[in-house]
Order: sequence, then C-alpha cells, then structure tokens
Amino acid sequence: MNTNYLDDQQFDLATDPMQPGSKHKPRMLILYGSLRARSFSRLTAEEAGRVLEAMGAEVRFFDPKGLPLFDGNESANHPKVKELRDLVIWSEGQVWSSPEIHGNMSGAMKSQIDWIPLSAGAVRPTQGKSLAVMQVTGGSQSFNAVNNMRILGRWMRMLTIPNQSSVAKAYNEFNDDDTMKDSPFRDRIVDLMEELMRFTLLTRDNKDFLVNRYSERKQSKN
Ligand SMILES: Cc1cc2nc3c(=O)[nH]c(=O)nc-3n(C[C@H](O)[C@H](O)[C@H](O)COP(=O)(O)O)c2cc1C
Repeated sequence: MNTNYLDDQQFDLATDPMQPGSKHKPRMLILYGSLRARSFSRLTAEEAGRVLEAMGAEVRFFDPKGLPLFDGNESANHPKVKELRDLVIWSEGQVWSSPEIHGNMSGAMKSQIDWIPLSAGAVRPTQGKSLAVMQVTGGSQSFNAVNNMRILGRWMRMLTIPNQSSVAKAYNEFNDDDTMKDSPFRDRIVDLMEELMRFTLLTRDNKDFLVNRYSERKQSKN
C-alpha cells in the first residue's frame, strides 16, 4: 500500500508558519461524478483526499448515489440535496473529479453542481471559494471535462486554480488496493492539491473583499 503521501520534497502547508490568517485546517469538499462500484474518478478523488489530509486539510466527500436529478427546487428538502448543500456551505475549497463521458463531464457531476444555489439568502455557498478540477478518461488524454468544469466554476463564481489533472486510460493507473500507482499522473495530482492548498490559504480570509461587486452594491442601495 502506498502510504507515502508526503515525502521530503513536500511540506505541510497547513502548519507552515508563513501561512496568512486563520489557523484552522482548510476545509476541503471533494465531489466526484460517477456511481460505478469501482469508479476511477472516485479513486482519483480519494487519492487527492489522502494527499490533502497529509498536507493538513480537513477533507469531506459527497457520495452522489441517491441524489435526485435536478428539478428546479421541488426536491430541495430531499436529504441528499440538504447534505450536499450543507457540505458546500461548510467548505472553503473544493475538488471536482469527473470522468469524461461523450466528450464532457458526466451527468452525475453536472447534476450535483446544478443543485448548488448561487445564493441562499445572505449565504453564498460557492462564491469566492477555491476549486481544483480533475478528470479521468478511458481513452487518450483529453481536457474536455476539465475545460467545461472551469466554465461551471466560473458560473458558480469560484476561483478555479490554474493547474488541473487529466488521467488518461485511468484503468491502468491504480493498484489492487485502490491507491494510485506512482506516476507522472499522480505527481500532477500532488502538484494540484498543493496549489489548491496555497490558493485556499491565501484567499479564504479575503473572500468578502474579493467578491465585492459594484453592480451588487448599486442594486442593494436602490
Ligand atoms: C457512455 C460512455 C462514454 C464515454 N466517453 C468517453 C469520452 O468521450 N472520452 C474518453 O476518453 N473516455 C470516455 N469514456 C470512458 C470513461 O471516461 C472511463 O470508462 C471512466 O473510467 C469512467 O469513469 P468512472 O471510472 O469514474 O466510472 C466513456 C465511457 C462511457 C461508458
């Protein structure tokens, strides 16, 4: 089993004395876009979760099984919808890990995002929060799902970080115990999680400052 999530090239960002502001563990929510029993987008998400924990984050996952398809707001009281919305509010940063299906993110991935409201009263569940996007493919490496999740991240007014991960032929990349084989694909995920930690630590205390908009100030004055 590969337990070497941190080696001497990496450091624990959460306890680094240079980190600004709040000292609590960065709260990371991980969403994945598949319901399959052995899903490689979930295994990739779980690998990312172990890396984030080793870097000092508090990590939670949402299991999309049982989440109804988006129906406006009619199923808003469904327990899975409530669970998802509570986790999103709790989070300070997020990871979205989707398979590429027909050249796009999966429906299971998109449906989760569709359930997240841009604002719920005074609460803005996603606005100004950091986001890392990852995808797996069965074919050669492509970027359709991550590109489209970036668009979705913008719609949710999130800070989608520059780095990203696309694991090609994902069925080749995992050990029998479901951990990820040592490879450039895995190194890239460590890079991505490190960047997510850095962006989250830099921005989480400045969210209100970053998302303050002229047009909204103007609207609330009238
Ligand atoms: C209906 C369908 C469409 C797919 N479309 C693509 C695709 O466009 N590009 C690609 O590289 N792989 C494609 N795949 C392969 C999946 O991305 C791959 O099997 C992936 O591991 C599925 O995600 P999961 O393991 O998390 O369930 C497709 C698979 C299915 C079943």
